[in-house]
Amino acid sequence: MTYFKRHIFFCLNQRENGEDCCANHNAKAGFDHCKSRVKAEKLAGPGGVRVNKAGCMDRCAGGPVAVVYPEAVWYTYVDESDIDEIVESHLKNGVVVDRLVLPESVGR
Ligand code: FES
Repeated sequence: MTYFKRHIFFCLNQRENGEDCCANHNAKAGFDHCKSRVKAEKLAGPGGVRVNKAGCMDRCAGGPVAVVYPEAVWYTYVDESDIDEIVESHLKNGVVVDRLVLPESVGR
Protein backbone atom coordinates (compact mmCIF):
# COMPACT_ATOMS: atom_id res chain seq x y z
CA MET A 1 0.00 0.00 0.00
CA THR A 2 1.45 3.33 -1.02
CA TYR A 3 0.29 6.70 0.23
CA PHE A 4 -0.88 7.72 -3.25
CA LYS A 5 -1.99 5.15 -5.77
CA ARG A 6 -0.73 7.28 -8.64
CA HIS A 7 1.30 10.41 -9.00
CA ILE A 8 1.38 12.61 -12.10
CA PHE A 9 4.13 15.18 -12.49
CA PHE A 10 3.84 18.03 -14.99
CA CYS A 11 6.92 19.83 -16.18
CA LEU A 12 6.16 23.55 -15.83
CA ASN A 13 9.68 24.71 -16.54
CA GLN A 14 10.02 28.23 -17.94
CA ARG A 15 13.34 29.12 -19.54
CA GLU A 16 14.36 32.77 -19.58
CA ASN A 17 17.10 32.34 -22.20
CA GLY A 18 14.77 31.89 -25.15
CA GLU A 19 15.24 28.13 -25.42
CA ASP A 20 12.09 26.10 -25.83
CA CYS A 21 10.47 24.68 -22.71
CA CYS A 22 7.21 23.10 -21.57
CA ALA A 23 5.89 26.40 -20.22
CA ASN A 24 5.89 27.70 -23.81
CA HIS A 25 3.42 24.95 -24.73
CA ASN A 26 0.62 25.62 -22.25
CA ALA A 27 1.95 23.29 -19.57
CA LYS A 28 0.39 25.36 -16.77
CA ALA A 29 -3.03 25.12 -18.40
CA GLY A 30 -2.62 21.34 -18.67
CA PHE A 31 -1.57 21.08 -15.04
CA ASP A 32 -4.47 23.26 -13.84
CA HIS A 33 -6.97 21.31 -15.89
CA CYS A 34 -5.64 17.97 -14.64
CA LYS A 35 -5.83 19.14 -11.04
CA SER A 36 -9.42 20.26 -11.42
CA ARG A 37 -10.45 17.07 -13.25
CA VAL A 38 -8.84 14.85 -10.60
CA LYS A 39 -10.65 16.81 -7.92
CA ALA A 40 -13.98 16.70 -9.78
CA GLU A 41 -13.64 12.93 -10.25
CA LYS A 42 -12.92 12.61 -6.50
CA LEU A 43 -9.62 10.90 -7.24
CA ALA A 44 -7.49 13.28 -5.17
CA GLY A 45 -5.97 12.44 -1.82
CA PRO A 46 -4.42 9.53 0.08
CA GLY A 47 -5.06 6.23 -1.67
CA GLY A 48 -5.85 8.18 -4.84
CA VAL A 49 -4.08 10.50 -7.19
CA ARG A 50 -1.69 13.37 -6.59
CA VAL A 51 -1.05 15.99 -9.27
CA ASN A 52 2.32 17.72 -8.88
CA LYS A 53 4.35 20.47 -10.50
CA ALA A 54 7.84 19.58 -11.62
CA GLY A 55 10.80 21.38 -13.08
CA CYS A 56 12.56 20.27 -16.24
CA MET A 57 12.56 16.49 -16.56
CA ASP A 58 15.03 16.53 -19.45
CA ARG A 59 12.61 15.43 -22.15
CA CYS A 60 11.92 18.93 -23.42
CA ALA A 61 11.81 18.00 -27.12
CA GLY A 62 8.47 16.30 -26.48
CA GLY A 63 7.05 19.13 -24.43
CA PRO A 64 4.77 19.63 -22.78
CA VAL A 65 5.42 16.41 -20.88
CA ALA A 66 4.00 14.68 -17.84
CA VAL A 67 4.91 11.38 -16.21
CA VAL A 68 2.71 8.99 -14.23
CA TYR A 69 4.07 6.82 -11.43
CA PRO A 70 4.30 4.07 -10.34
CA GLU A 71 3.99 2.94 -13.96
CA ALA A 72 6.61 5.47 -15.17
CA VAL A 73 4.58 6.25 -18.27
CA TRP A 74 5.56 9.48 -20.04
CA TYR A 75 2.99 11.52 -21.89
CA THR A 76 2.88 14.46 -24.21
CA TYR A 77 -0.37 16.35 -24.59
CA VAL A 78 -1.87 19.16 -26.60
CA ASP A 79 -5.15 20.21 -25.10
CA GLU A 80 -7.71 19.63 -22.37
CA SER A 81 -9.23 16.63 -24.12
CA ASP A 82 -5.84 14.88 -23.95
CA ILE A 83 -5.69 15.57 -20.22
CA ASP A 84 -9.27 14.33 -19.82
CA GLU A 85 -8.27 11.07 -21.47
CA ILE A 86 -5.21 10.61 -19.24
CA VAL A 87 -7.32 11.27 -16.14
CA GLU A 88 -10.16 8.97 -17.14
CA SER A 89 -8.16 6.13 -18.64
CA HIS A 90 -4.87 6.04 -16.76
CA LEU A 91 -5.28 7.89 -13.47
CA LYS A 92 -8.74 6.51 -12.80
CA ASN A 93 -8.66 3.09 -14.46
CA GLY A 94 -4.98 2.23 -14.87
CA VAL A 95 -5.16 1.95 -18.67
CA VAL A 96 -2.29 3.65 -20.51
CA VAL A 97 -3.33 6.11 -23.24
CA ASP A 98 -1.09 4.72 -25.97
CA ARG A 99 -1.68 7.51 -28.46
CA LEU A 100 -0.22 10.11 -26.05
CA VAL A 101 2.82 8.13 -24.88
CA LEU A 102 6.09 9.93 -25.46
CA PRO A 103 8.40 7.86 -27.70
CA GLU A 104 11.46 6.46 -25.92
CA SER A 105 13.78 8.36 -28.25
CA VAL A 106 12.57 11.80 -27.19
CA GLY A 107 15.04 13.56 -24.93
CA ARG A 108 16.15 17.09 -24.39
S1 FES B 1 11.39 21.97 -20.12
FE1 FES B 1 9.91 20.40 -19.75
S2 FES B 1 11.07 18.56 -19.79
FE2 FES B 1 12.55 20.14 -20.02
